[in-house]
This record gives sequence, C-alpha cells and structure tokens, in this order.
Amino acid sequence: MQQAEGGAAAVPQRRLRTGAALPAIGFGTFGSDRYGARAIADAAAGALTAGYRLLDCASVYGNEREIGAALRGVIGADVPRDDVFVMTKIWNDAHAPADARRSVERSMRDLGVDVLDACYVHWPFPNHHPPSAGTDARDPDARPYEHQAFMATWGALEALVDEGLVRHLGTSNVTLAKLALIEQDARIQPALNEMELHPTFQQGELFQHCLDVGIQPVGYSPLGSPSRPARDRTATDVADVAQPAIVAAAEAHGVHPALICLKWAVQRGQVPIPFAVKPEQYVANLQAVMTDPLTRDELHAIRGADQNDRLIKGQVFLWPGADSWLDLWDVDGRIAGRVDA
Ligand SMILES: NC(=O)c1ccc[n+]([C@@H]2O[C@H](COP(=O)([O-])OP(=O)(O)OC[C@H]3O[C@@H](n4cnc5c(N)ncnc54)[C@H](OP(=O)(O)O)[C@@H]3O)[C@@H](O)[C@H]2O)c1
Repeated sequence: MQQAEGGAAAVPQRRLRTGAALPAIGFGTFGSDRYGARAIADAAAGALTAGYRLLDCASVYGNEREIGAALRGVIGADVPRDDVFVMTKIWNDAHAPADARRSVERSMRDLGVDVLDACYVHWPFPNHHPPSAGTDARDPDARPYEHQAFMATWGALEALVDEGLVRHLGTSNVTLAKLALIEQDARIQPALNEMELHPTFQQGELFQHCLDVGIQPVGYSPLGSPSRPARDRTATDVADVAQPAIVAAAEAHGVHPALICLKWAVQRGQVPIPFAVKPEQYVANLQAVMTDPLTRDELHAIRGADQNDRLIKGQVFLWPGADSWLDLWDVDGRIAGRVDA
C-alpha cells in the first residue's frame, strides 16, 4: 500500500481545548449508498497506511464492525493506537440517555477501541427516517429542537467522559442559535463541531464563532460531496470543483480541483474529512495538505466562491407543520418551532 510522502509525521496538527492534538485532515467513512462496508474498511486501512490518523465514523454508516477489523489490522508497532484519533456519532434513534450510552458502547465494541477520542451527537433532533428514504419521507413523531432533551443526551455523553470512555464531545449539524444554548448549559463544552464546509458553503458566522470559543470546526463534504445520493441533490446545487476560483487555482498548481478544496480547508483552519475509496484519491488528498499551499490571492478568490450552497439539507428530519428544510437551520437566528423555551 502507498504512503504519502513524509507519512503521518508530516501531516499538520491542530490543538483541541484539552491540549490533545488532532491531524489537520481526516478520513470520512460514509459511503453515500454507493460503496459497501468492505470497500470502505479496505480504504480506511489503506488510508491509515498512507498516513491518515483521524477517522470520522458513525453508527448510522453501518460499517463500524468492518472498520474496526481494518483498524485492528493496522494498529501495531508502526501505527500505535494512541496516534489514531477515532471519532463516532450517536444516531437520532439513540438520544434517550440510556440509548446514547448503549450506542457508544456498541460503537466502541465494533471499532475495537477501549476509549473513543471523540463522540458527536450526529443531529440535534431525535427524528428518524428509514435507510435510503426519499426527501419526502417524514417521521410522524418528528419534533423541532428541544433543548432540555438535547442536554439530557449530552449529559449521558458527559458521564462517559467522566468514566474515561470518551475523550472529547462534539456537536454536529447545529446552528449558532443551538450551539449558544448548548455552550450555556454544558458541563463539558464541545471540543469539536462537525459542519458542512466547502468553498461554496463556508458558514462564516458559525465557523468564526467556533474558532472564537475554542471549538475546532470539522468540515464534512469538503469536496462538495460529488457522489452524494440522489436524495441529497436539488436543481439549485452548484459544484465546488467547477467554480472559476477553484479551477484557476487547480490549473496554477497542476492538480485536480478537489485538492484545491482541501488545501483551502486546511489553510482556513477547519479539519476536512474527505471520503475516498480509491487509493490514488485518498493519497493525493493527504499529500495536498502537506505541500504547495495556496497563495493569499487564491485564498481571497476562493472566499468569494461562497454561495450559501447547503447540500445536506436534512429534509427527512422535518417535523409535521414545518415550512421547509430551512426550519432545520434557524436562518433568522431563532430556533424554529421550539416549544421548550
Ligand atoms: N456529520 C454529518 O452529518 C456528515 C454528513 C455528511 C458527511 N459526513 C462525513 O464527511 C465525509 C465526507 O463527506 P462526503 O462523503 O459527503 O463528501 P466529499 O468528501 O466531499 O466527497 C467524496 C467523493 O469525492 C470524490 N473524491 C474524493 N477524492 C477525490 C479526488 N482526489 N479527486 C477527485 N474526486 C475525489 C469521490 O467520488 P467518486 O467515488 O465518485 O470518485 C468521493 O466519493 C463522509 O464520508 C462522512 O464521514 C458527515
């Protein structure tokens, strides 16, 4: 298997609020309905060998057992367990405190780790949808954000930190309005916030807030998720890799536009977690953030590519009576539909 030049030691690092180090780029493990668990686990093993030391997992991705086997195959003298930052997420059907604990314990068993480096609440709603559901599928029991219920879930995860089973907690798919409430009431502050981030969707306000309060932004779909399922596509979506500022930088650096998205992400300060099963892609993705940085002018031009182009809209998590997917994202700064204020 191929190693990126310089290997793991050459990957830039970030520091979390606890002082722990985190690689500046990670490896995503959601197959977007296109790639099976075995292919993704093989890629995870290849990625670790190439020099990745950060895995973004989730119970709902349905592949933690296979990734655990891959991880066990790689961990050893050359790749000590403590050098790999393993993250998972509890799914929307595991928000009840006892379920949250059970979910984390199952993920740890499947991943074969006795401590998790980070655990996220995947979405701030306990709303479900069947696997591969279309965007018009709705959970009749779906509810808007309920802060007390969320904090009960968070409290269950805090207990796991107290017990030494989890090292850091993370929010995911939250808005500034929700994060502010969580910060106000959390005993253990989020160390990470996983959010959609790519050149055409830069989420400037939430991103800056995270940096200001010591929460590391982790950027999902960093390439604009070109392989996302049909249910996550709408006619107004734009392609990051086709943006003029990205294409111009790709030509100047002689690389694929995807690699420009990753250079930009790391230079901006987020931790991108690109997904790839093809060795040439995941090796190039890692290599890209270690070499040949973008110029100030290129970074400036990419800042101008922002179009508020949210790709993962989350329609399936809407509750009865909600107006549109925008209600999930508190676009006017208020938490839509909230009844427990
Ligand atoms: N917290 C959340 O709610 C959430 C939501 C979404 C995603 N995530 C996480 O974020 C990760 C990444 O997001 P994503 O999978 O949606 O999108 P992404 O990383 O933006 O796009 C992945 C796709 O980009 C293509 N690609 C990868 N490297 C490339 C390269 N060097 N050159 C050209 N094309 C390249 C591949 O397509 P082909 O396979 O077609 O070549 C790959 O399948 C996920 O795997 C998951 O871990 C989290």
